[in-house]
Amino acid sequence: MAYPPQWILDALDDPVYLEDGEGQVVRCNQALLGLLQAESARVVGWPSSQLDIPTGHQAEHRQLSSPSGIPFTWVTLKRELPSIEALQGRAKELEASERQLAELLSRQRTVQQAQRLESVGQLTGGIAHDFNNLLAVITGCLELLKVRAQGNPPVLDLADRALTAAERGAALIQRLLAFSRRQMLSPEPTNVNAMILEMLDLSRRSLAEHIEIETELCDEPWLVLVDPSQLENAILNLVINARDAMPDGGILMISTAKVELDAPDDGLMAGDYLRVTVSDTGTGIGSEHLGRVFEPFYTTKETGRGSGLGLSMVYGFVKQSHGTVRIESEPNRGTTVHLFLPRAGGARSIEPRSLGEQPLGRREVVLVVEDDDAVRSTVVSVLEELDYRVISASSAAEALEILELHASIDLLLTDVVLGGTASGPELAQRAQQGRAGLRVAFMTGYADQHLSQVGRDARVLKKPFRAPELARFLRSALEG
Ligand SMILES: Nc1ncnc2c1ncn2[C@@H]1O[C@H](COP(=O)(O)OP(=O)(O)OP(=O)(O)O)[C@@H](O)[C@H]1O
Ligand SMILES: [Mg+2]
Repeated sequence: MAYPPQWILDALDDPVYLEDGEGQVVRCNQALLGLLQAESARVVGWPSSQLDIPTGHQAEHRQLSSPSGIPFTWVTLKRELPSIEALQGRAKELEASERQLAELLSRQRTVQQAQRLESVGQLTGGIAHDFNNLLAVITGCLELLKVRAQGNPPVLDLADRALTAAERGAALIQRLLAFSRRQMLSPEPTNVNAMILEMLDLSRRSLAEHIEIETELCDEPWLVLVDPSQLENAILNLVINARDAMPDGGILMISTAKVELDAPDDGLMAGDYLRVTVSDTGTGIGSEHLGRVFEPFYTTKETGRGSGLGLSMVYGFVKQSHGTVRIESEPNRGTTVHLFLPRAGGARSIEPRSLGEQPLGRREVVLVVEDDDAVRSTVVSVLEELDYRVISASSAAEALEILELHASIDLLLTDVVLGGTASGPELAQRAQQGRAGLRVAFMTGYADQHLSQVGRDARVLKKPFRAPELARFLRSALEG
């Protein structure tokens, strides 16, 4: 016997066995036993054809003979090399799953951000409401103070300064309300291209000379269902952000495109959208900030330069309009913001219209009585925007107190159904007893049964109403 000694075989890493001329295993190494998970007695002495060689291994045969001339075969089991195709296939699979993972992670981040914004929105919405009402009272009282301080310039000056501050506060609150999706919107089928063209002049004026504006507007744009004045506001916010990001100049691009979504996508239902894109070649936003730019009060600008409410307003407004906002940015590579706005279903265009075309107030003082906080504060904001001075009350009792205090109220605008002891018509009656000639108008969300309470000639505005209706209604109540 002169097969190679066992220790030589055991020193090898590859599984090896030796086979005699009859095909019987005469020796094997530890690596082979490990691979087959078998004991030596179940291998040596058995025909090699009975070995249960796992797939993926290939036997390499070498014919040798011992020093005494006995032929034997040295068999090494090698791992089969996968084919190039198989390797390429595997690489593609890995790439695909890596991509899937990245997509999944990014979607998870988006969902988390949306959830965070949702809860911040709820919080700020509540605060904004309360402040809105407080400010309405502050502003109303200051206006009244001014009336009484005629002939007293130092007091007038103080009141004016307080009013300016209160107005700035009201503007901030308006943006917070927009963020929390609680502002009163008047959506209309709107031609965004026409709006952008109209805005260009204004945009150019708010930009420095070294910033160029380019536009790429799609042909025959779809009309979108949004509140035009708020959309204008949103685009202007984006333009100003772009300006601030390009202190050394650059290019601002405003473009529109028609997008058809066959399936829901990232916060958007399937359907037709007009995409409005504002992009700049400015400083860009680092990934550590990008996830937070829609949060209210998130700003990287110095104190006094930015309140961090621009993008919050844009976000809330677009979401409330059933669209969505997406932002892409990289440091030094500029920023792109897309607004996806839902297509208006087959309606005809109403040309872009600003609040200015509605009949405006002439600083008349209106007392708004409404027990629903949300309705009251939206009515108040709209009236203020229309240039009325507004005082608000949530009950008849509160309203009567205010009427007693303030002589200069021009119009009592009250809900028909009020919580508390007295209804709107009862309040009106008592108010007019106290002050003959006080003009009164009603709002109501109820159909006819409650209308019997108000006189036949009373002025009644049915809820829900939109800003232009309210504007016209008020004018006729004050002038008719
Ligand atoms: N186009 C842009 N390029 C670079 N950074 C931007 C851009 N737009 C927004 N940002 C970043 O996002 C932050 C938040 O923007 P947002 O418009 O909400 O607030 P703001 O511009 O700081 O203040 P405000 O708009 O209330 O005056 C900015 O402070 C800025 O860091
Ligand atoms: Mg801004």
